[in-house]
Amino acid sequence: MTRLRGIRLFGLLALLTTAALTAAACEPGEPARSTGAYQIDVFQEMHYTQSFKSQEPPRFLPPEGSIPITGGKLALPEDNDAIDALPNATVRNAATLNRAARLYNVNCASCHGASGGGDGYVGLRFAEYGAVQPPALASDRVADLAAGRAYASITNGFGFMPPFGNLLSDEERWALVHLLFISDAERAALLADPANQPTGGG
Ligand code: HEC
Repeated sequence: MTRLRGIRLFGLLALLTTAALTAAACEPGEPARSTGAYQIDVFQEMHYTQSFKSQEPPRFLPPEGSIPITGGKLALPEDNDAIDALPNATVRNAATLNRAARLYNVNCASCHGASGGGDGYVGLRFAEYGAVQPPALASDRVADLAAGRAYASITNGFGFMPPFGNLLSDEERWALVHLLFISDAERAALLADPANQPTGGG
């Protein structure tokens, strides 16, 4: 094979390959797509990235018996009075309240507001889209709750509020209950304390 013929042959092959790929990409009658079909990506789309592909089957399923990080209800008494009367075994002291304030700033403030006004960024979206706006911690609604009832709502969620039973330990949820039932001034000071911000104090 002469050198010239070799180059020509290569050129022809390249032309054919390009034609074939173009045809594959724009099959008549089929919408142009580059997701879900596992075809050669001729026209790479920005949304079809490795992170997107990794969610396509086959997927690794979670190990048997694993607990989802949110969702799921914990067993609590059926009876309302028994729920109201649940005892708070977590001691209320400065350490507990500071811990609760940190937990609040991480887990609750996005909805219930940085200072507990029910006006967190997500909370306001709730109101905007016709869901129930989170109550202010200083509201009568929260103040009138029995401690056990507040604990139950934090544990298993309530209405539009998600459950925290599988995210926070029993002690942490009871610590948060203490935070609900101190004076508004004391709570505001704890929530604003720089040491109790998500990035502060540890
Ligand atoms: C995703 C938003 C969201 C988050 C996060 C959230 N809440 Fe709520 N919370 C709500 C909404 C909305 C309500 C009112 C629910 C309803 O009436 O349907 C509510 C209600 C409550 C109530 C009243 C429950 C009752 O029985 O009446 C308490 C107490 C409360 N939240 C505490 C907390 C605490 C403590 C945290 C953090 C661990 C928290 N919330 C996290 C949205 C949220």
